[in-house]
Amino acid sequence: MGGGIAQVLAAQGHEVLLNDVDEARIRAGIEGIAKRLDRDIEKGRMTAEQRGEILAHIDPRAHLHDVDVQLAIEAATERLDLKLDLFRFLDANTPPEAILASNTSSISITVLGQVTSKPANVIGMHFMNPVPVMKLVEIIRGIATSDATFGAVRDLALGLGKTPVEVRDFPGFISNRVLLPMINEAIYALYEGVASVEAIDTVMKLGMNHPMGPLTLADFIGLDTCLAIMNVLYDGFGDSKYRPCPLLKQYVAAGWLGKKSGRGFYDYAGATT
Ligand code: CAA
Repeated sequence: MGGGIAQVLAAQGHEVLLNDVDEARIRAGIEGIAKRLDRDIEKGRMTAEQRGEILAHIDPRAHLHDVDVQLAIEAATERLDLKLDLFRFLDANTPPEAILASNTSSISITVLGQVTSKPANVIGMHFMNPVPVMKLVEIIRGIATSDATFGAVRDLALGLGKTPVEVRDFPGFISNRVLLPMINEAIYALYEGVASVEAIDTVMKLGMNHPMGPLTLADFIGLDTCLAIMNVLYDGFGDSKYRPCPLLKQYVAAGWLGKKSGRGFYDYAGATT
């Protein structure tokens, strides 16, 4: 999602530093952006010159020590230990007035803020996948997030052509508190043999007008991310209604993580699992 976020910021003329765990991943991020912009040119929505301008606003950076930025948006894997380390690092390596935002799907903004010297400047800026297409940005206020930080991030989201929605910092926020239990229930229905993968997805697509069935969407989000979010809901509320389905756990243990690993509820070589 980091590449998508960089793309929408650069398209509005913001200067973006794009970082990842290694240079190969940074390159892959830039290539993904370039490919999406090529599609826009093919469809007549953009000129080659505009594509060049957008890419020129993105500076690939393998290291982020002492960077002069107004805002950092973290979009790492959904793991608390990793995000805590990143927030400590960003706190030490960005100007004191910088806003530190997380694209987390469910991890507490209050907890991330607490490991920095400035929890008032820490906020959730949760984009939806695919970022260039989806209009929503869920903006999560940690308990210490200031009005100034909230206002700046809301205005930025509006400037990107997105619709910001303010949400308080409780497990799963709104998007994943509602979405993930629905996906988990679809996985339970499969686990219990109520219907096939295709049947479950067809019911939700044609019956509820969802653009993707829940199992297709789970593969698209990543089954590891789905499991991580269910665990945050389960731990955060201490309520058994959020227990992750054993089949979801088994798929993740097998490395069947969905589209990104080539296999999830669907086989991306063609056949259904
Ligand atoms: N990146 C950029 N653009 C993309 C894209 C991608 N990965 N995938 C599709 N698009 C664009 C296409 O270029 C196309 O644009 P135009 O019509 O302007 O040419 C448009 O999206 C529609 O694409 P398609 O016609 O190929 O396919 P579609 O009509 O099925 O739409 C979709 C694709 C937008 C992804 C649609 O299926 C959809 O809305 N799916 C649900 C997405 C969703 O629920 N996202 C939220 C996931 S949860 C999340 O992100 C947060 C979390 O915390 C887990």
